[in-house]
Formats: sequence, structure tokens, C-alpha cells
Amino acid sequence: MRRAVCPGSFDPIHNGHLEVIARAAGLFDEVIVAVSTNYAKKYRFSLEDRMEMARETLASLRGIIVEPMGEGLLAEYCRHRGISAIVKGLRSSSDFDYELPMATMNRQLAGVETVFLPAEAHYVHLSSTLIKEVNVLGGDISDFVPKSVLKRLLAGEPPTDLPRKG
Ligand code: PNS
Repeated sequence: MRRAVCPGSFDPIHNGHLEVIARAAGLFDEVIVAVSTNYAKKYRFSLEDRMEMARETLASLRGIIVEPMGEGLLAEYCRHRGISAIVKGLRSSSDFDYELPMATMNRQLAGVETVFLPAEAHYVHLSSTLIKEVNVLGGDISDFVPKSVLKRLLAGEPPTDLPRKG
């Protein structure tokens, strides 16, 4: 069984993530969407909410499992689960510059390869951070996130570390 991981904060999951995960599912027998926790980071959504949004939006795809990644090394996570590849979407050359040392490190640490999928042109400008900022400042984000995520973003209180509208 060829098992891959798509790791990330998914705070929240957006259409660019979904497109890369769907393509990964076409390449591997099983894809684990590993939702990370980094206590130095301030998240908009709890780990449970981030996982629930990912599960809701990926429910129709076969061979995808959503799991918490924990706080440890991704390389160790891969080693323990028999994961042979990390799949990452690349939006730009700066994504590549950021990802390349991590890919090399993960291969050295656990022999796990990183597979880069070029982001679909329609999604190259998307990031969770930008989507949250546009949302908080009153912009329309309905083209960028699945419906269940949109509902939560519109329903929730804006985080205190971003400027409020008005
Ligand atoms: O969505 P993000 O926040 O860009 O995801 C980053 C993530 C989770 C992929 C990255 O921070 C990561 O790999 N964290 C695990 C810690 C780790 O293994 N660090 C060493 C990387 S070589």
C-alpha cells in the first residue's frame, strides 16, 4: 500500500488545499491529511474544528483519512505510520525555496520523499492567512473556501489579533 501524507495547519482548509489533496488521492492508495498543532502559533480554529472542516469537505473522496499530527517531527510521524511520501502543493518559487530544505531534511531523517504538486493556476494566490484577513475586513471569500468553512468563518467572532471592520 502506497501511503502519503498531506500535512498542514488547515486553519482553515481552502479550495487550494482540497485540489492538491484530491490529486494526491489519485496518486496514492491512502492519503492522510495530518492536521498540525504548533503551540507557538495562534490559530483561528481549534484542532477539533480544523479536523472537522477537513473531514466534512473531504467526505466524498475515497482513500482519505483526516488525523491530528501532534507536535512532533513530521519525519517521525511518517516513520511510525509507514508513510512513503509527503505531498505539498507549490504556489510559487518562494514556496519551493521554503520547502526544499524541509524535504531534504525529512528524507535524511526518515527516508521519506516529498512530492511537489504545482498548484492549479486558479488557486496560486490562496493561503489560509490571506483568506482570513479578507474575511475579517469584510471581503467576499466564497470563491476560496468550501461551503462548510464559509459558514464557520462568517458565523465566528473575528480573532483578536486581526483588525476588526468598522
Ligand atoms: O500549514 P503549515 O502551517 O504551513 O504546515 C506546516 C507543517 C505542519 C507542514 C510544518 O510546520 C511541519 O512539517 N511541522 C512538523 C515539525 C517538523 O517536522 N519540523 C521539521 C521540518 S524538516
